[in-house]
Amino acid sequence: MAVGKFITLEGMDGAGKSTHIPNIVSQIESHGETVVCTREPGGTKLAEELREILLHKAMHAETETLLMFAARREHIAKVIAPAMARGDCVISDRFTDATYAYQAGAKSVSVDKITVLEKWVQDELQPDMTILFDVPVEVSIARLASARTPDKFEREDAEFFEKLRNAYLARAKQYPTRFRIINANQPLKTVAKEVKVTIEDFLLRI
Ligand code: TYD
Repeated sequence: MAVGKFITLEGMDGAGKSTHIPNIVSQIESHGETVVCTREPGGTKLAEELREILLHKAMHAETETLLMFAARREHIAKVIAPAMARGDCVISDRFTDATYAYQAGAKSVSVDKITVLEKWVQDELQPDMTILFDVPVEVSIARLASARTPDKFEREDAEFFEKLRNAYLARAKQYPTRFRIINANQPLKTVAKEVKVTIEDFLLRI
């Protein structure tokens, strides 16, 4: 029986979510919680190897979906479930909402197939809270253009990013009690403040 808490961070590439992770971790730790910080695809040795393949090798969108869930199965078994059983707070930089956004929303993989894999791999496991860092497509693209060498996903065009953003916003609308949308198209300090309030509010409820 899971007793820990599970927070996921989502958003398009270039939304800036990763920048806020260290602050989120220390804020939760300051409440006396033990935090396990992880990411997807990845989080275990094998899943990180799958990440390398996923981010750099061209493949059929369904192959990509299956590999995402293969990595996720390993991640849940080795990292997420044990941490939650210990009562820790797990923070994952991306989780299954990313599969619905990237593979279903942007690459047209069937939602029904993803739902089957989700049930198989996760059973009842769902995040307690998902923070969606939302930015307009042109902002995401501009930020990526000035960043490091892009991976496979970061090289996609504006139409892909438009579908991606719409899919994320649709997920947030479908699960309004789980999602918190942060407008990440604001000065970093303002975004950080909103993240802090969001986490504080979550901690008050646990
Ligand atoms: P990302 O989380 O953006 O890491 P970094 O900040 O190091 O670039 O990279 C992971 C990529 O994997 C991202 O482009 C989204 C993609 N992805 C999917 O397409 N589906 C998924 O289910 C997950 C978890 C990630």
